[in-house]
Amino acid sequence: MSLFSGLIDESAKILLNPKKNFEEKLNNLCNVLHEKISYYDWVGFYFSNFENKTLELKAFSGSPTDHEVIPFGKGVCGEVAVSNKTSIIPDVSLHKNYIACNINVKSEIVVPIFYKESNIGQIDIDSFTFDAFKEEDMLFLEKISKMVSREINGVKK
Ligand code: SME
Repeated sequence: MSLFSGLIDESAKILLNPKKNFEEKLNNLCNVLHEKISYYDWVGFYFSNFENKTLELKAFSGSPTDHEVIPFGKGVCGEVAVSNKTSIIPDVSLHKNYIACNINVKSEIVVPIFYKESNIGQIDIDSFTFDAFKEEDMLFLEKISKMVSREINGVKK
């Protein structure tokens, strides 16, 4: 079994754990992805506050960040809140609208999470390696995003 398909199974188990609340599940997921994928050096979930037009950090694994609230449109995360599309930044130093959380970060991927067709949050991953994120990471994280969305559906029912 490949690393990614094993992690899909492990993530499904985390999200279906009846003993944990949604935030605990997201934190578990962050820890597992951070620990098991060598180049995932910071893993976090931001969710949209549509009233304030900001993203708010709900769970993460890695160094604490000063950027727990990000306005829509600012940084890679804020751009994805507006574009509704996965963004891969191979070299963050070349990205004009980048918000630096840690000087060691070299590349980043941000994957939106949709709930009832609305872009309600995102998975944000930083790497200390240049050009770390490939199509397989995107496909893997888009699956994780859908699984999180299904869990939100369960929480809101
Ligand atoms: N680099 C992000 C900000 C969040 S940190 O990576 C934790 C951005 O440009 O939006």
